[in-house]
Amino acid sequence: MTSAIGIDIGGTGIKAALVDLDTGSLLSDRHKVPTPEGGEPDDVVKAVVGLVSEFEELDEETPVGVCFPAVVRGGRTMSAANVSDAWIGLEAEQLFEKALGRGIHFINDADAAGVAEARYGAAKDVPGLVIMTTLGTGIGTALINDGRLVPNAELGHLEIDGVDWETVASNGARERASLSWTEWAGRLQRYYERLEAYLSPELFVVGGGVSKQHEDFLPLLELDTRIVPAALRNNSGIMGAAALAEGSTLHSS
Ligand code: BGC
Repeated sequence: MTSAIGIDIGGTGIKAALVDLDTGSLLSDRHKVPTPEGGEPDDVVKAVVGLVSEFEELDEETPVGVCFPAVVRGGRTMSAANVSDAWIGLEAEQLFEKALGRGIHFINDADAAGVAEARYGAAKDVPGLVIMTTLGTGIGTALINDGRLVPNAELGHLEIDGVDWETVASNGARERASLSWTEWAGRLQRYYERLEAYLSPELFVVGGGVSKQHEDFLPLLELDTRIVPAALRNNSGIMGAAALAEGSTLHSS
């Protein structure tokens, strides 16, 4: 059995677990800490180092994958929507590798979730285009075409009526405005309708913590495209980051 640690950094919390890469199941408890106030790089890195040190199972050979809520190109974070602007243009992968003293695999959080759903979950063996959406502090999206990731889709920032739609339709926005399920579903309806019109996907997969309450809002949506909750619930980021980390110890710096 091969295993790896997956770490999912979000706008609100950072969570990690040891993952069985053959099945995607968690081999350890989920360890979780709040994302440090302000989401500054040094504080987030420190929190991740603290989390990793809690794993007794970790040895030099255990791959570590980290996913993060920003566009990630060549190990650099190129955007920052729900974390400090100091991440923009930062060599983030190197920063984590230096602090952890090991090689890691570093990827956008929604992309990690999409990869996990394609490998182990609701998008497994689905041909054509699957759009993974994570409804959390922001809205993350991943495009999976015939099982392959097209990285860094930032469709959570789709503008509708001149508004960056994640600011009004994420789960964070629902909580901030105390929206009823029906009110929230109205905003999601406009969002998924737009994605459907532009991209004609075969399937939408809906992740994020709120996906465990999918029965309260998914049936309210009227779409031509099938829309299902993430099979891996809110663990898909952890699982995808871990899955992609295989081999990352080889190019450790
Ligand atoms: C970020 C994405 C991220 C998503 C979910 C958005 O605000 O721009 O990169 O995937 O939030 O965390």
